[in-house]
Amino acid sequence: MLPSLPSLVASLALLTSTAYSLPRNVLSGDDGRLTLSAPSSIIMSKRDTACNNSPALCSKSYSQVTHMGAHDAAFLRDSSTDNSIAGNQYFNATLALDAGLRLLQAQVHNKNGVIELCHTTCDLLDAGPLADWLATIKGWMDANPNEVVTLLLVNGDNQDAAAFGDVFTKSGLDKYGYVPTGSSGWPTLQSMISSNKRLVTFIASVEASAAHPYLLPEFAHVFETAYEVTSLAGFNCTLDRPQAAGAATAALQAGLLPLMNHFSYQALSSAIMFPNVGDIDTTNSPSTSTPGALGLHAQTCQTQWGSKPVFVLVDFWDHGPALETADKLNGIEGKTTGRLTPAGAGGSNKKNSAGSTNVGTVANLGMGRAALVAFFMAAVMLF
Ligand SMILES: *[C@@H]1O[C@H](CO)[C@@H](O)[C@H](O)[C@H]1NC(C)=O
Ligand SMILES: *[C@@H]1O[C@H](CO)[C@@H](O)[C@H](O)[C@H]1NC(C)=O
Repeated sequence: MLPSLPSLVASLALLTSTAYSLPRNVLSGDDGRLTLSAPSSIIMSKRDTACNNSPALCSKSYSQVTHMGAHDAAFLRDSSTDNSIAGNQYFNATLALDAGLRLLQAQVHNKNGVIELCHTTCDLLDAGPLADWLATIKGWMDANPNEVVTLLLVNGDNQDAAAFGDVFTKSGLDKYGYVPTGSSGWPTLQSMISSNKRLVTFIASVEASAAHPYLLPEFAHVFETAYEVTSLAGFNCTLDRPQAAGAATAALQAGLLPLMNHFSYQALSSAIMFPNVGDIDTTNSPSTSTPGALGLHAQTCQTQWGSKPVFVLVDFWDHGPALETADKLNGIEGKTTGRLTPAGAGGSNKKNSAGSTNVGTVANLGMGRAALVAFFMAAVMLF
């Protein structure tokens, strides 16, 4: 969006007056000529004060911020997967981070001893080794030092913390790993940024490990709403996991952070379900009045829980756009900086929507015959 003319004029005026009030030697080179260094350093320091795309979030604790997340962030419906209808996202993880999402969820499996990003089974959709994906995320975090990022990995084959630790170390991402400090609660984004411990990693079903203390067992810190939703009327704010935490209000009192799952599946049979892209513009809408919309679901949970969702997971995040709901919850709507929206974001769903797919045609499914057979054999939902 282009800034309005009055706001452009106002910021230019601010920049100019700031520049004039600087001491002369900052503005001038040794020869007394004006250089560009003063204005660019002003711009840099302004950008440096934003945390997760807004200065308003720096002083907020990690648990007071809503972190918008890409569900199955590694499983793409794009040319890399021949537009597989098993894919949950149109844009990859680093493009999601560029756009302002700060939570990436994915599922991993054990493929011949390698932790691999696989969707339900490695025959269906294999997005490569986790180590490679993490290395790309590390590169992004290196280049974006004021950003706090959260990962949530579903541990499909129950691999242990040591196996994950090896992969995190290999990718270099371990250096950013945040380790909670006992009962003092979650730190502010600014303090995580200042200490450079700005990656929070949750792994579903892993034991805590003294050797890799930044690998956090998800359900010691987080509770989730249901993830098996098959209609827009199916979203609610009831705690689904971990059951042992009781009701959502009890889980909140115990200090668990709420994760609101907000994606739905389209059933092709009672056992075969695909990410539902047909309704995505409604599903991800910021509307607080449309049934099934992200905005309404978030508002309902905030009312029921007495606190907003800390984590939200959506499919096809560029639609909605989903970030608008998080921005509203964070009070920063229309006031963010440093985001890049990929070309084609939120575009029409002409890419192989499950609603129009002829299931009998393997080519339309974007997967090979063996994968298709494995997929039907799996007879489980694509979480
Ligand atoms: C996402 O795509 C961009 C552009 O194609 C690429 O540079 C980047 O490495 C990709 N990121 C991941 C996590 O694959
Ligand atoms: C919440 O939603 C899930 C998924 O749609 C459903 O299975 C569950 O019964 C719902 N719970 C309540 C209390 O409505």
